[in-house]
Amino acid sequence: MPPAEDSSVNSTTTRKQRKRFKRKVSIKVKRIAEKTKKRKEKANVTPLVTKYWLQRYDLFSKYDVGIKLDEEGWFSVTPEVIAACQAGRCAGAGVVIDAFAGVGGNAIQFAKVCSRVIAVEIDPEKVALAIHNAKIYGVEDCIDFIVGDFFQLAPFLKGDVVFLSPPWGGPSYKARQDFTLDLLKPKDGHSLFQAAQAITPNVIMYLPRNVDVLQVSELSWLSSPPLDIEVEENYVRGRSKGITVYFGDIAFQ
Ligand SMILES: C[S@@+](CC[C@H](N)C(=O)[O-])C[C@H]1O[C@@H](n2cnc3c(N)ncnc32)[C@H](O)[C@@H]1O
Repeated sequence: MPPAEDSSVNSTTTRKQRKRFKRKVSIKVKRIAEKTKKRKEKANVTPLVTKYWLQRYDLFSKYDVGIKLDEEGWFSVTPEVIAACQAGRCAGAGVVIDAFAGVGGNAIQFAKVCSRVIAVEIDPEKVALAIHNAKIYGVEDCIDFIVGDFFQLAPFLKGDVVFLSPPWGGPSYKARQDFTLDLLKPKDGHSLFQAAQAITPNVIMYLPRNVDVLQVSELSWLSSPPLDIEVEENYVRGRSKGITVYFGDIAFQ
């Protein structure tokens, strides 16, 4: 057993060491917090989108290479793993029309596996961001970006698959028990589906996880004979993020 004196010296030293260690840790924590704050400011992360910023690598695996998003882009982009899965259904397809392209989450994944993508987006600033993001993934040459309203452009577009990822009306969609198709923006789900059907029967819709699936399945009856339909629930890290509905030849592939 060490003498009592020694033990008091030891405990004083230990206390000092502990204090110094605590100070070091708190300085490190402060530095990390400052760095995180600066990175968030640089990426336009407002309090509303902080939650999505924390999932940034789920949204774009190449986020750190310089991906850019605006506020709406943060909460409306399709997570990369889901976009890749949706694109996988179209592998080898000729032309895919991404009717609501946003900041490019889906268009980039389609461009990886299809020969051509027509990306339509009404907001010119989002188109600029989508072009920038497509460059990061090296697929900008496979995408024709069009600034415009899909409903006005639809009669002039030709393609093998139409992908519909319309606005869900912001994060408040989650509060609803049953999300009905009339809540989609800028027009209801029927109008949206009909505009796409005029181009091709092969349509993909990406919808909220609380969408009324029965109502969605009724869309297949708008065509004669009724279209094949497949409904898929999409998860990221075990969390349900949305529902993808495949109509026509791309169902059950
Ligand atoms: C849910 S976001 C699409 C996100 C996209 N799938 C992605 O992964 O980045 C819907 C987009 O539709 C655009 N939009 C709204 N009305 C439109 C219209 N009439 N024609 C084309 N784009 C429209 C919005 O500006 C918004 O960027």
